[in-house]
Amino acid sequence: MKLVEYANRHGKPEGRPYFSTDGVQSVTGGEWEKLRAKFTCPVGVTNVWRCPQVGGSERIQGERNGMKYKFSSLHGSQKPLSLIEIIIRACTDKGDVVWEPFGGLCPGAVVCKQSGRAYRAAEIVPEFFRAAMKRMGE
Ligand SMILES: C[S@@+](CC[C@H](N)C(=O)[O-])C[C@H]1O[C@@H](n2cnc3c(N)ncnc32)[C@H](O)[C@@H]1O
Repeated sequence: MKLVEYANRHGKPEGRPYFSTDGVQSVTGGEWEKLRAKFTCPVGVTNVWRCPQVGGSERIQGERNGMKYKFSSLHGSQKPLSLIEIIIRACTDKGDVVWEPFGGLCPGAVVCKQSGRAYRAAEIVPEFFRAAMKRMGE
């Protein structure tokens, strides 16, 4: 709040308003707070996050049409839900909307559904998209 007030008061005259969403009106301190990225790490969580690779029932099995080689895992880069959960809990609050543009098996959407966030995801490969929908129960 202090930063936005300071910037709007002391920003270059030709560049004012310094903080604006429409290029005309300065944002208020309250609006600025809403625009800021959230990041709250739980006590004990550092900036190095380790978790085991996906395995067991979490690892989604299946085949993809057109693949030269057969793998039992459907997606070669499926991320662990426990890892994605740290990110989503650190950066969002309940009720926020999370955008997962390169969804794969959409772990972000899964975590959002489990933790009270709204979600939007995209995935271009039909097999991955269908598996993600099934995983979500949708
Ligand atoms: C690294 S993978 C994501 C893996 C995902 N985090 C998971 O755990 O399953 C990136 C995904 O982006 C998808 N992708 C690539 N280009 C895309 C596009 N233009 N629109 C939507 N999805 C796209 C790929 O098919 C791939 O599944």
